[in-house]
Amino acid sequence: MTLWGGNFQQELDAQAWKLNSSLSFDQRLAYQDIRGSIAWAKALAAAGVISSHESDLIVQGLEKIRVEFNNQAFVFFPTDEDIHTAIERRLGELIGSVAGKLHTGRSRNDQVATDFRLWLMEHVPLLVEVLEKLQFAFLCQAERGLQILLPGYTHLRRAQPILLAHWWLSFFWQLERDRQRLLDIFKHAAILPLGCGALAGCPFPIDRNALAKDLDFEQPAPNSIDAVSDRDFAAEFLFASALLGIHLSKLAEILIMFSSAEFGFFVLSDAYATGSSLMPQKKNPDMFEIARGKSGILTGNLVSLLTILKSLPSTYDKDLQDDKPLVFSSFDTLLLLLPVLAGAVETITPCPEKMLSAIDDSMMATDLADYLVSKGVPFREAHKLSAQAVSLAATKGLALSALSIDDFKSLYPAIENDVLEVFDPWKSIERRNAIGGTSPLMVKMQLEQARNTLLKPKPHEMFGGGTPRSSHPINSK
Ligand code: ARG
Repeated sequence: MTLWGGNFQQELDAQAWKLNSSLSFDQRLAYQDIRGSIAWAKALAAAGVISSHESDLIVQGLEKIRVEFNNQAFVFFPTDEDIHTAIERRLGELIGSVAGKLHTGRSRNDQVATDFRLWLMEHVPLLVEVLEKLQFAFLCQAERGLQILLPGYTHLRRAQPILLAHWWLSFFWQLERDRQRLLDIFKHAAILPLGCGALAGCPFPIDRNALAKDLDFEQPAPNSIDAVSDRDFAAEFLFASALLGIHLSKLAEILIMFSSAEFGFFVLSDAYATGSSLMPQKKNPDMFEIARGKSGILTGNLVSLLTILKSLPSTYDKDLQDDKPLVFSSFDTLLLLLPVLAGAVETITPCPEKMLSAIDDSMMATDLADYLVSKGVPFREAHKLSAQAVSLAATKGLALSALSIDDFKSLYPAIENDVLEVFDPWKSIERRNAIGGTSPLMVKMQLEQARNTLLKPKPHEMFGGGTPRSSHPINSK
């Protein structure tokens, strides 16, 4: 049964029916559709469009349908075009012709946009929760890494020593911005399309402010045309997910490298590694590889939606139907991935001796230049002198710190015995004591700041947003 056949002489072609149907994926909006319809029935009654008795019947019927979904007892018909059709059809079976009054003044255009926004607002908090788990994993590792030195790289070349904790926290802050971006979704998602009809608005005196409040939205959409066509909120979600995916991919890549025999900086926990069916010695970093690969899916979903939106000529166009699988895909991907990464990060074991042995004296060449600066040498000159010391050591086949004082003095006479302190990596990190630096003092402060950041209240806890509800189980015939 379609909701629109009155003016049609012919049935829809069977293949066209399949192409047109969205039930296979939009059934995930069942709870939001019921919630929106209950609010709409009440709004119709409040506006005097239907009687309160009729509204009660509709609400009771919808509540029954909700129970059917809860019990996995809702039966879809092959003739159900989408979730909205299925629920309206079932409502008719349960309460008779009064069900036909529910759609008064409403279109599936404002209905689906409302359901979709509701779904996102109810589900984003679930993602934020698992993202926080991963952030906590970084905090745990940072805590354990306060006494461990790691070679820091630029261009994947040894650069300067850093504190392991500082390195772990760098991932924390990337994810913190991702978390904020996810929470920002509410700002634009919490604008209510319901009550905008197909595109031109509702001809009945619906109190859209009350309706918005009832559905935990911030405000009713101010423009009916924009309301039914706007999918910015979905694109924003997909962007936040894609960028998060990129961050996870970068993290995965470096952990794959650092846990390889070549680096040997970390050992993966067996719980998050897999073996090879052929080579008995192998312990593969599959979880991180999967994370790296998923960034392709997450980025692809964003690009797909943007491309779908690109040339839409008018308000609602059926192209928009394909917005949902993209959002569900990114959501499902991250919901599965993030807790696994949290476990993998939390259980990875650092090998401090390996890290230390990869810190050579040349990584303190900048410190040598800084030492010369303290003797009054302009930095550009100091940089040159330090580079000459590096060359001299290389020519002599020595570590920088093994050069004699006379060697140093031959480069710059004011150099004294205390120059050797420059090559102590711990002293090197202690010197980076400005805010944001890798000194133990600054990193401890940073860790505290990171902890406090996670504890701040979130926008959806401060306004609207609704409580997270899990997706309903699928039961199709
Ligand atoms: N299944 C449709 C979608 O997801 C619902 C809206 C249909 N609207 C319409 N005018 N045909 O977009």
